[in-house]
Amino acid sequence: MTSDQTMVIVGASLAGARAAQTLRDEDFSGPVILIGEEDETPYERPPLSKDYLMGKHGREKLYVQPREWYGEHDVDLRLGTRVTELNSAAHEIVLSGGERIGYSRLLLATGSSPRRLPVPGADLEGVLYLRNVGDSDRIKAAFENAARVAVIGAGWIGLETAAAARSAGAEVTVLEMAELPLLRVLGREVAEVFARLHELNGVDLRFGVQVAQITAGSDGTARGVQLADGTQVDADVVIAGIGITPNVELAVAGGLAVDNGVVTDERLRTSDRDVFAAGDVANAFHPLLGKHIRVEHWANARHQPVAAAQAMLGRDVSYDRVPYFYTDQYDLGMEYAGYVEPGEYAAVVFRGDVPGREFVAFWLGDDGRVLAGMNVNIWDVNDHIGALVRSGKPVSTDALTNASVPLESLA
Ligand SMILES: Cc1cc2nc3c(=O)[nH]c(=O)nc-3n(C[C@H](O)[C@H](O)[C@H](O)COP(=O)(O)OP(=O)(O)OC[C@H]3O[C@@H](n4cnc5c(N)ncnc54)[C@H](O)[C@@H]3O)c2cc1C
Ligand SMILES: NC(=O)c1ccc[n+]([C@@H]2O[C@H](COP(=O)([O-])OP(=O)(O)OC[C@H]3O[C@@H](n4cnc5c(N)ncnc54)[C@H](O)[C@@H]3O)[C@@H](O)[C@H]2O)c1
Repeated sequence: MTSDQTMVIVGASLAGARAAQTLRDEDFSGPVILIGEEDETPYERPPLSKDYLMGKHGREKLYVQPREWYGEHDVDLRLGTRVTELNSAAHEIVLSGGERIGYSRLLLATGSSPRRLPVPGADLEGVLYLRNVGDSDRIKAAFENAARVAVIGAGWIGLETAAAARSAGAEVTVLEMAELPLLRVLGREVAEVFARLHELNGVDLRFGVQVAQITAGSDGTARGVQLADGTQVDADVVIAGIGITPNVELAVAGGLAVDNGVVTDERLRTSDRDVFAAGDVANAFHPLLGKHIRVEHWANARHQPVAAAQAMLGRDVSYDRVPYFYTDQYDLGMEYAGYVEPGEYAAVVFRGDVPGREFVAFWLGDDGRVLAGMNVNIWDVNDHIGALVRSGKPVSTDALTNASVPLESLA
C-alpha cells in the first residue's frame, strides 16, 4: 500500500462512516482506512437519548452500515484505535500503538466530547454523561432503580434524557443556569414551548441556578446536587448535559487552523490542502450564510462528509445545505431548518396551534426574510421551510401565519 493513493479517515462514527461510503460510491478503488477509538461498529447517536435509551430497540438499529459492509467494500476499519499524532508535512498519522500510516488525503471526523462539570463531586460514581452507546446503557440501567433523577443542563441531552427518565417512571428535576431550556438555539418564544412541555409532563424545572457541588451519600456515590444558594436537590442519579467541545487535538498537533473547531472552506478543506474535516468538529464556511458555522447535529454529520469525500477525490463541490435538526420528546416531534445565532432575529411568528403543540414557527430577519423555521407535530413541510430559508426572499407575516397559504407557494 502506498500513501500516494491512501485515503485515511480519523473518527469512525457517522461522519467517518459516511465519508468511507462516499469514497466507494464515487468509485474510488484505492485504499480507504477508517480509524476509530471506540470498539463499536460506526453507529448513530440520536437513539441513545430516545428510543434506544427507552429500551424500544436494541443496538442492531444504531449502525450506519452493517459490520460486513466494511469488509465487502474493502474499507480497512480499525476500531479501538486512537490516532495520537498528525504530521501534516510528512502526510502521516501515528496510532496509539505506535504504527505510522501515510495518507494522500486525510479526513478529520473526530466529532466532539461532553464538557465535564467543573464542580466538586463531579467525579463521583453516579454522575453520568451521555455520548456513547455505553453511556446510554449505563443511564438505562440506572433508570431501572432510580426513583429520583437530577439532570444538569436543559439543552438537547438534558431534555431528551429528562423525557426518557419520566417514561421510566422517575421523578425528574432539571437544573439549568439560563432562564429557559434551549434558549441559545431557539430564543425565548420557542424555548417557552419546551419549558411548558416538560412542566406538563411533571418535570421540576429550575432555571437560573448555579450548581455548586455534587453531594455524596454514605456509600460515596452521588446522592444529589447542591446549588449555590444552598438548596439541596436529592437524586439517585445525576446526569450532566452541559454542552460539548470539538475534538481538535489532532488538528492542533498538525498545525491546522483551529477556531471553534477545525476551520475549513466550503469544500471542507482545512488550512492544509490535503486534510479535510467534517461533522461536529468542522467549522466550515457556509456559502449560503456567508460565514463559518460549526453544526452539532445529525444531518450535518450525515451530509457534510459526502461533500468532503468528493472534495478529497478532487471533485468541485461546495457544501451549502440548509442546516437541519430534529428532536422527539414525549408526544412532541419537531424538525428545524435554518440557522440563527442568539439574538440575530427580529421576530418569531407562528402558524397553527401553539398551546396544542401543532404549529410551525418562523424566525424572521429585519427585512422579513425567513432565517429558520420549525415544524412541530406537522409533517412533510420541512423541505418547504428549507426552500424558504434558501430563497432569502422577504415573506409577509400574514402569509406565514395563515395556515391556508401553502408553504411551497412562498419560496
Ligand atoms: C445522545 C445524543 C443524541 C443526539 N440526538 C440528536 C438528534 O436527535 N438530532 C440531531 O440532529 N443530532 C443529535 N445528536 C448529535 C449528533 O449525534 C452528532 O452531531 C453526530 O454524532 C456527530 O457525528 P460525528 O461523526 O461528527 O462525531 P462523533 O459522533 O462525535 O464521532 C466522532 C468519533 O471520532 C472518534 N475519535 C475522536 N478522536 C479520535 C482519535 N484521535 N482517534 C480515533 N478516533 C477518534 C470518537 O471516539 C468518535 O467515535 C445527538 C448526539 C448525542 C450524543
Ligand atoms: N435533538 C438533537 O439535536 C440533539 C439531541 C441530543 C444531543 N444533541 C447534541 O449533543 C451535544 C450535547 O448536548 P447538550 O445538551 O449537552 O448541549 P447543549 O449545548 O444543547 O446544552 C447545554 C445546556 O447546558 C446548560 N449549562 C451549561 N453549563 C451548565 C451548568 N454548569 N449548570 C447548568 N446548566 C448548564 C446550557 O445553558 C445549555 O442549556 C450537542 O452538540 C447537541 O447538539 C443534539
